[in-house]
Amino acid sequence: MGIEPLTRRSALRGVVIAVAAAAVGFVVARAGRASVLVPTTAANGYGPEPQGGRLLARLDQVPAGGGVILDNAKIVLTRGQGDTVHGFSAICTHQGCPVAQVSGGAIVCPCHGSRFDAQTGAVVGGPANRPLPPIPVVVRDGSVYTA
Ligand code: FES
Repeated sequence: MGIEPLTRRSALRGVVIAVAAAAVGFVVARAGRASVLVPTTAANGYGPEPQGGRLLARLDQVPAGGGVILDNAKIVLTRGQGDTVHGFSAICTHQGCPVAQVSGGAIVCPCHGSRFDAQTGAVVGGPANRPLPPIPVVVRDGSVYTA
């Protein structure tokens, strides 16, 4: 079998063969087990989202009257004298520095000294003029989760 010179007829034959092969492949794929979708009630392939959201910290990691900054989540958790925990964005509303500490009832940004109320996120000292955005959290079974 020699190499046939490319002619309009041989090119058309090639296109017809390619289209026929694609059609057969499509039909086989539709009928094959690999293309069957299995219905699931899970939120993802690993199972349903746990109730109460993502685990942030154990309650005993958030000191009473203070707080903890979760660098990886960019969240600051604060706690009064009881078990109530508040969550706020750990990104300062002045120019976007991460806040660095919770002390004296305030969340403190190290860049220019802004201070935010640890229980409400309100500005208590500038230059920031907007509060830290709240992050809803819940305490359940001794741990803090996103709400
Ligand atoms: Fe926080 Fe300026 S970025 S005080």
